[in-house]
Amino acid sequence: MPKITEEIKEVASKTRGWALATATKDGIPNVVAVAFGKLISESQILLVDVFMKKTRANIEANPNVAVAVWDMETLKGYQFKGTAHFETSGEIFDEGVQIVKSTMPQLTPKAALIVDVLQIYNLTPGAEAGKEMA
Ligand SMILES: Cc1cc2nc3c(=O)[nH]c(=O)nc-3n(C[C@H](O)[C@H](O)[C@H](O)COP(=O)(O)O)c2cc1C
Repeated sequence: MPKITEEIKEVASKTRGWALATATKDGIPNVVAVAFGKLISESQILLVDVFMKKTRANIEANPNVAVAVWDMETLKGYQFKGTAHFETSGEIFDEGVQIVKSTMPQLTPKAALIVDVLQIYNLTPGAEAGKEMA
């Protein structure tokens, strides 16, 4: 199990957006921008589905995803690989609704997308770029 370090938590808390990559069963890629996201545990990311279409269809057919997050000020960034599923009720869904409603009350979240992180890679430019983190 990879460790989500304090440094990663800080980047995630300061980021203004996440990139979420999915793929069809046949491997056709799709990447979207996600504003509503946060780390919710030592191994899980919550992204909130408000507008997802191909993303949702892809995850339902193929749960493997990659997520990137970065901070343009410090130029630190990380990539997470794992599996994702949707939840439309419960505590995590309620947290997702709260995240959206607190800044954009006019939007209606459809689901919480929970990513179970299996690997973390460093994206930060320099010698460690691309390396898997312990
Ligand atoms: C800056 C920005 C932030 C976005 N944030 C979200 C988000 O938090 N949740 C969401 O469901 N869609 C968000 N979107 C929309 C998705 O990027 C995308 O348009 C949507 O998932 C439909 O694409 P798809 O059919 O490939 O899934 C955002 C788009 C932009 C440009």
